[in-house]
Amino acid sequence: MAVESPEGRAARRINLDAIAYGGDYNPEQWPEEVWEEDVALMREAGVNLVSLGIFSWARLEPRPGEFDFGWLDRVIGLLHEAGIRIDLATPTAAAPAWFLAANPHVRPVTADGTVLGYGARQTYCPSSPEYAEAAARITSELARRYAGHPAVVLWHIHNEYGCHVSRCYCEQSVLAFREWLAERYKTVDTLNSAWGSAFWGQLYSSFDEIDAPRLAPTGVNPAQELDFRRFSSDALLRLYTRERDIVRALDPDVPVTTNFMAGLSDNVDLWRWAREVDVVSTDHYLTAAAPDNHIGLSLSADLTRSLAGGQPWLLMEHSTSAVNWQPRNVAKRPGEMARNSLAHFARGADGILFFQWRASRAGAEKYHSAMLPHAGTDTRLWREVTALGADLAALREVRGSIVPAEVAIVWDWESRWGMELGFKPSVDLDFRERIDAYYERLWRAGVTVDFVHPGADLGGYKLVVAPSMYVARTAWAESLRAYVRDGGTLLASYYTGIVDENDAVHLGGYPGALRDVLGVRVEEFLPLLKGQQTTLAAESAAVQAATGSATRWAEDLALDGAAAVLRHEDGPAAGKPAVTRHTFGEGTAWYVATAPDPGTLDAILRAACADAGVQPPSGLPDGVERVQRRGADGTVYEVVINHTGTDFVLSGTGRDLLAGGTPVDSELTVPAGGVRVLAVGGL
Ligand code: GAL
Repeated sequence: MAVESPEGRAARRINLDAIAYGGDYNPEQWPEEVWEEDVALMREAGVNLVSLGIFSWARLEPRPGEFDFGWLDRVIGLLHEAGIRIDLATPTAAAPAWFLAANPHVRPVTADGTVLGYGARQTYCPSSPEYAEAAARITSELARRYAGHPAVVLWHIHNEYGCHVSRCYCEQSVLAFREWLAERYKTVDTLNSAWGSAFWGQLYSSFDEIDAPRLAPTGVNPAQELDFRRFSSDALLRLYTRERDIVRALDPDVPVTTNFMAGLSDNVDLWRWAREVDVVSTDHYLTAAAPDNHIGLSLSADLTRSLAGGQPWLLMEHSTSAVNWQPRNVAKRPGEMARNSLAHFARGADGILFFQWRASRAGAEKYHSAMLPHAGTDTRLWREVTALGADLAALREVRGSIVPAEVAIVWDWESRWGMELGFKPSVDLDFRERIDAYYERLWRAGVTVDFVHPGADLGGYKLVVAPSMYVARTAWAESLRAYVRDGGTLLASYYTGIVDENDAVHLGGYPGALRDVLGVRVEEFLPLLKGQQTTLAAESAAVQAATGSATRWAEDLALDGAAAVLRHEDGPAAGKPAVTRHTFGEGTAWYVATAPDPGTLDAILRAACADAGVQPPSGLPDGVERVQRRGADGTVYEVVINHTGTDFVLSGTGRDLLAGGTPVDSELTVPAGGVRVLAVGGL
């Protein structure tokens, strides 16, 4: 599997001639007698890659500076003999008890001053020099010992940075925050002006006066909060790069990853992180209670592929069945694990791994599903696990292929953080809510999307959708402007292009950064009440929805070059445009100044797709997911996942890869709840 970073750093390969299959392996939780059985069963299931040692620091360094690698040597030996490759983890996500006992000040502090205790994991302050030092030491010892080991094909740094502790408010963090600010602003006057600290008389005369945005009498300066989010992401990134650099220096030929939580957690700016890994990997867990939660899964997979610059990536963790941390840990039903796994594969994953290999007997996660459940191998789950291993083996030729997309959705962590700050015009302004609304309609229309950073080169996309781009740096707005001017189609939703990188409003009428491109000028926001609905009336033939409705949001919007497509008939914006279309340069810019009902949003998206020359597939029933991967030799792999209770018949010719490559001469039935992969052309 060749992977190139988005910046085009030299490709690094995971030395594995297959689609990766396996999971987190935590042998230290079991007596040694169990290990041989583990390895035999892994072979039976088709496992070829395990993530090893993720939480094993206390076993590897039982006392400060005293190392015990004997047990790990034996596990690695067993796996190697069996031909199972290793994704070897630095164990730094769980520091040993002795470390916290000796360094109690390293315990993280929350915004309200609570000191978090030991007994879980990730009990450390990301800015603690003592922690960073200790983590560097165990990382060096580990990398020195296993560098060049033929079974180790990937280094797994830490585990889910920022999952439990992403921001720390201790004294050490405050010192580090000040340093970070001094580096960014150079002078405190520059900071005062960027933060607008004249407001509420917050002017600072020295960096030493600045605190973390801890719990305060009322809302803390939003620019300070935003910088603290950036700083906190960078503090974790610094920990990561320090471990990575140690590993790279000792074992330069083996690629390095760390498992992201793309689409699940917003704690770190993954665009910045993705540049720093050799292979992008992510973890994904379904929200069991959410209807159609497979759409959220697809979003995470598309976001991960985008972070990987379109190159194949690894699903580092998901669950075979229930997790243990949601209010009701619903078990996956027969076939669901395979559908989930193959949906990630469809969207570019070249490896499918789980948390974890063998279900723990004790500890906080004992009720979390695993590849090998408590009930053993005479189980439906085990049979499905082995069947999935066989399916992935049958799909081997697909690895390395890419997922084409003509449509991109703008995704930016800074906008997400900015929208989470308090004192907004409405509690209904929610970064994910709008992204999900647009993503879902495009998913149901069968349109595959990439996600893009707002400053990315957009030239390769026919349609760019910006549902929640609240923060618009000048350069980003310029990039969108140039994209439309040169012939692109942009569709922006409300609350896009509102502020600069310091949460300061772009003046002159909203959305200040994009007013000219959109051809509108908004004088005032007119948020709707909870449950309030307005009626939309069609103003032009561009959208074939005569009537529709809208919720959440409206605006006092004046046309300034754009044409009205839909208008509010009632509510606070009665008579005002709700959806507009503007010809700008060679391109077209749509503006959706409200939250239309799904049918109306479909009509708007269809019209924008038509402007852009994007043709959504026809004849795809709701709930049937169809994604293409394209091989370098021109083979097109149609992955069809049937989430419905009715068989779906796919028309086409090619090879049915999950049936040993059987020729298909006109039709392939994708059974209810099943998945088929049709290879078309090539070879
Ligand atoms: C992940 C974590 C794993 C395990 C899993 C349970 O966030 O990386 O170690 O805890 O969740 O779902």
